[in-house]
Amino acid sequence: MPPQPAPINVPDPILVLDRVSRIYFTKGNIFGRGAQRVVALNQLSLSIGRGEVFGLVGESGSGKTTAGRLIVRLEEPDEGSILLEGGDITHLKGRQMQDYRRRVQMVFQDPYQSLNPQVSIADSVAEPLITNRIGDPRDHLRRVLEVLDTVGLSPAEDFVYRFPHQLSGGQRQRVAIARAIVVQPGLLVADEPTSMLDASYSAQIFDILLGVRGQMGATIIFITHSLAAARYLCDRIAVIYHGHLMEIGPAAQVIANPKHPYTQALIDATPKFGRCEAVPVYGTLLSAPREASGLAGCPFFPRCRRAERLLCSRSYPDWHPAGPEQAALCHFAQPDHGDGEPAPGEACRLGGG
Ligand SMILES: Nc1ncnc2c1ncn2[C@@H]1O[C@H](COP(=O)(O)OP(=O)(O)OP(=O)(O)O)[C@@H](O)[C@H]1O
Ligand code: SF4
Ligand SMILES: [Mg+2]
Repeated sequence: MPPQPAPINVPDPILVLDRVSRIYFTKGNIFGRGAQRVVALNQLSLSIGRGEVFGLVGESGSGKTTAGRLIVRLEEPDEGSILLEGGDITHLKGRQMQDYRRRVQMVFQDPYQSLNPQVSIADSVAEPLITNRIGDPRDHLRRVLEVLDTVGLSPAEDFVYRFPHQLSGGQRQRVAIARAIVVQPGLLVADEPTSMLDASYSAQIFDILLGVRGQMGATIIFITHSLAAARYLCDRIAVIYHGHLMEIGPAAQVIANPKHPYTQALIDATPKFGRCEAVPVYGTLLSAPREASGLAGCPFFPRCRRAERLLCSRSYPDWHPAGPEQAALCHFAQPDHGDGEPAPGEACRLGGG
């Protein structure tokens, strides 16, 4: 049975992914040996609410960046559709595509990807205004100064005529954010924007992203492998494993009370500090993966210690509601029984953001 959308109702979604798949083919050697078919996303369905900070969480290779690239239309899905404000953007072209590119912006992990080392900060941040023919060119400098101030590069006059190599990594990432928000997008995809920064710079970037949401009302999709970062920043998270959505729900709730063995394994793997004696060790990850017996079973079966072989290796799980607005794709996910007790995981703070 193909994956079904999670049974979570989002009123007035700004973005909907409807059974989106992306498949890559790698070439292999000159004889074609080693060529592979990689299913980076497998029928991923998500609804993202207007003004949310929504986290896409998963380990390396789970498909997070692929989802981001499809959303900003750097790539097209092989199956399924993506809707922005109800309109299908999967095959946009021409002017409509240009308009979409203004409305949906991306911040990359490495700011050098979006900043030309030969171009000054002023020209770099003004470029999207020129490309999108926004405002009078005489106003561009004013707008650039304004947006540099928003991302905490102040006094902005000290930065406009510098070049990327004259900035620290944290400052470069702020410029990349300024460049993305200068056109006032409704949706910002931030792909691991702090993974190359130390903890104090990361916290500043998180606060800038929250400021962008607060001041501009933008919706933010925050891509991260760090549950600690997701806990700090996100309203809701979706946990992805090998391109399959595994669990979805409010960030604080999912992290305090994860229902899917994969989410539990991610929490076990997260560095912690504080009263850690209270943290449950879920122990859901097999130390050595087992053989998958076919395509029909649970995607996490090869690594899941909780698996029941006959059921989990043969039958794709259904969604199980697990708490308010939370659901997990596991045969054995249990709903909360509503005793209102905070989960023990909350006593110990996740580190490693
Ligand atoms: N252009 C490509 N050609 C072939 N395979 C690709 C390509 N891009 C991504 N993949 C594969 O698709 C899968 C998902 O990759 P993706 O970059 O989306 O993961 P990710 O969750 O962003 O990982 P990371 O946390 O390391 O950034 C991986 O197996 C990756 O090797
Ligand atoms: S369905 Fe089975 S294999 Fe999959 S996560 Fe649940 S227990 Fe593990
Ligand atoms: Mg990535």
